[in-house]
Amino acid sequence: MIGVFDSGIGGLTLLHELTRTLPHESFIYYADKENVPYSYKTPDQIRAFVEKAVKFFLEKECKMIVLACNTATNVAIEYLRENYEIPIVAIQPAVKVAADFSEDHKRILTCATPVTLSSERYNKLVKSLSIEHRLDNLPLPKLVSFAESNVFEGAGVESYLKEEIGKVNTPDHHFIVLGCTHFTFYEDLIEDLFPNLKVLDGNAGTARQVKRLLEKDGLLKSSGSGFIYFYESGKIVEDTSQYKELLARLRR
Ligand code: DGL
Repeated sequence: MIGVFDSGIGGLTLLHELTRTLPHESFIYYADKENVPYSYKTPDQIRAFVEKAVKFFLEKECKMIVLACNTATNVAIEYLRENYEIPIVAIQPAVKVAADFSEDHKRILTCATPVTLSSERYNKLVKSLSIEHRLDNLPLPKLVSFAESNVFEGAGVESYLKEEIGKVNTPDHHFIVLGCTHFTFYEDLIEDLFPNLKVLDGNAGTARQVKRLLEKDGLLKSSGSGFIYFYESGKIVEDTSQYKELLARLRR
């Protein structure tokens, strides 16, 4: 069993990628519905929420944990790795991919939660890539609320994206990095509204990293069919239809 954590439904975008990359594995998806959105919480609060989920995954005897929440990664991963032995793979904004694949004169736009964008970890990463001079950071906290309210299209979300991204987008921008797993639900809409932007997220890279690590540790399952269990802040979800519908939306 692999534990997959997010504040809410955003991590389903990574779970979807994980089920494609690891078809024989079973997963526990933990959405911290009691505390979503993390956008307005302090790093200390978020660290405590994530630690509670880690303890939950350990009780369930998971062999690995995946943080499918960039915000959780940026404030909690070092602490968790120092304090827990279980392997933890953590998603982070795909700015390295953007830096590697964009031409030097092109600008990069990262959209994430305010917590991620102001975190020391994210800013260290940006610095290590020497892209500060051609990077714009844009917090989109309302997009998390739209996703949690099951609003994936329509005038409200379109005008929010047009206004916010429109403020910073220029013809010089090439990549938009979606540094919050909730935002991947809006990938097609963003590309339709801003044809000059190519969307990147950390989902495929993180799923590949999970596979590599399981293989290295001899833990990869290569037969049988996997199952997904859904929990909200530690309580089992009896009616999983909303989660299944969201996963089906990602398959389309
Ligand atoms: N999905 C989360 C992320 O990747 C955070 C969303 C939130 O709770 O604000 O950062």
